[in-house]
Formats: sequence, structure tokens, C-alpha cells
Amino acid sequence: MDYTEKMLRDDALKGKNIIVTGGGSGLGKAMSKYFMELGAKVAITSRNLEKLQNTAKDLEEATNGTCFAVQCDVRHYEQVEQMRDQVIQEFGSVDILLNNAAGNFISPTERLSANAFDTIIDIVLKGSKNCTMALGKHWIDNDEKEKNVLNIVTTYAWTGSAYVVPSATAKAGVLAMTRSLAVEWAKYGIRFNAIAPGPFPTKGAWDRLLPGDLKDKFDLAKKVPLKRVGEHQELANLAAYLVSDFSAYVNGEVITIDGGEWLKGAGQFNLLEAIPEEMWDQLEAMIKAKKGD
Ligand code: COA
Repeated sequence: MDYTEKMLRDDALKGKNIIVTGGGSGLGKAMSKYFMELGAKVAITSRNLEKLQNTAKDLEEATNGTCFAVQCDVRHYEQVEQMRDQVIQEFGSVDILLNNAAGNFISPTERLSANAFDTIIDIVLKGSKNCTMALGKHWIDNDEKEKNVLNIVTTYAWTGSAYVVPSATAKAGVLAMTRSLAVEWAKYGIRFNAIAPGPFPTKGAWDRLLPGDLKDKFDLAKKVPLKRVGEHQELANLAAYLVSDFSAYVNGEVITIDGGEWLKGAGQFNLLEAIPEEMWDQLEAMIKAKKGD
């Protein structure tokens, strides 16, 4: 099966103007590319303007679409407002916000400085809040409807996870914001949804989450019932659907795309997968022998 196949019909996002935070690399870049292939104009933002401009050039060449690079540190509300205004000036309006920018690294929590914890909360939770508020207020004040926000979270937003506690804490907040505003701002014609991706390797995330030879020691594909990591296009397909009008009745949902990874960690007896087929006959006989005991 070809997991890189593109899902939506041509022009599915024609006429849509989309802001993708953290769009300069990794999954943000992959989603931006597909949005452009579907006819959207995309503004990508991050702290590094040079990287953004290179990405914008790459994406325009690859898709014949329009990509606008805007420098913005999502931690600072004034910068987010400026970014929003620059995109509106360039595109005329914004229809979709994809809160994708994130910060994360592994560490025992007791080793973190107060500033280290704050840094992740500021990028992930405050950054998503800043962009959501800046766009939301603009849409509401101008009575603009049929808008939507897509937040990238993670499955440990609800399970929690050791060694990435600031990220887990912040992503749980983003998920709560997604569900809360899906209800509160529906009356303004603004939908909110989230995606919780499992392992979709990118250089940026992998170097921070599995540095050095940890990549070889912890093969994340082995944790996935489907025994593979995700293809970027699979995530891009889901994101494109969720920001498109095809999902107009989907609101307040978080869709997990992880090959069953988090459930494998959760189910009490899932470890029985290690039992070889031939042993099940003996086990069945032992269990049946207990009948009536
Ligand atoms: N372990 C412990 N503390 C760490 C750390 C690590 N691996 N990396 C950074 N910190 C601490 C720093 O020491 C600093 O705290 P201090 O001032 O008390 O010393 C604090 O975190 C902020 O680090 P700094 O490098 O100044 O922040 P930054 O704003 O330049 O960078 C990061 C933010 C740390 C999240 C950086 O990794 C980044 O830019 N990431 C963006 C991309 C990303 O993470 N994507 C998500 C991939 S899953």
C-alpha cells in the first residue's frame, strides 16, 4: 500500500488562506506543501526568517502555489498580532489557523530549571493561545465566519508522559482550549479541532526526543501495533480534511493518528502479544482445567 498517496480532490482548499505556525520545517512544512497543492495560499511563521524564506521558495517551486514567510515568535502577543496583520495585508484575509509550532526536549523533570519548564509552556500553550486569540478576536470583531483552527497535540495530552512533562502539561492545555472554544465560538462560525500524531519522524523532533544512539535503542516503530511510523503525507491528508469544508460538521474533535500506539501502552493485557502462538494451546488447557475450582 502507498501511504504517500494524496487524499483530497484538486482545488479542495482553493480560496483558503492558511497560517501554519512552525511551518518552516518538519511536519509543518509537509502540511503546508499539501495545502498549497490543494490550492490554498499559505503563510508560514517561525523565529528564523532565513529558514522560512528558503522553505517558502522550495514550496512555491514544488507546488506552483503561494507561500508567504513571516517571522514571528509565537510566545509574544505583539509579534503574533503583527504577523496576523502582515498576512491579512498580503492575502486579504485568513481562513484557517494551524497551531503547529512546538518546543520539546526530554529531561527528568527535577533537572529542569524554572525557565526551562516555562520555555516549553510559553511556546506550546501560550503560543497556541496567542495565535488563537489574535485570529479569533479579529474574526469575531469583523463578523467573519466559516473559519477554523486546527491544533497539533499529542496522545500524551491525555495520558501524560514521563520525561516530557512541560510538553504534556502544555499540550493538555491546548486540548482543553480546543474543546472549550469549539463550543464557545461555534456561534461565531469558528470550528476547532485537533490532531494527536504518534511517531512521524522529523529531524528536529527526533534529534531532541531521541538524541544520539537512542534512535537505535528505542525503535518507536516497535511500539506501534501496525509496526511502522507514519508517513508525513498521511498526516497532511488528515490535516487537509480537517481544515477543509468537507469537515464542516466536525467540531471539538481530536483525531489520533498513531497506528494504535497509545492504546497499546494502555491496555492491561496488551503485553500478552509476546506469547508465541504454540503456547496458547497449553494456556487454554490450563485455564479450562481450572473450571469449577
Ligand atoms: N535539558 C534541560 N534544560 C534545557 C534543555 C535540555 N535538553 N534545553 C534547553 N533547556 C533549558 C535552557 O537551559 C534554558 O533554561 P535556563 O535559562 O534556566 O538555563 C531554557 O531551557 C530555555 O532554553 P533556550 O535554549 O534559551 O530556549 P530557546 O527559546 O532558545 O529554545 C527550545 C527553545 C529549548 C525548546 C529549543 O529546543 C527550540 O528552539 N526548539 C524548537 C523546536 C522544537 O523543539 N520542536 C519540537 C520538537 S518535538
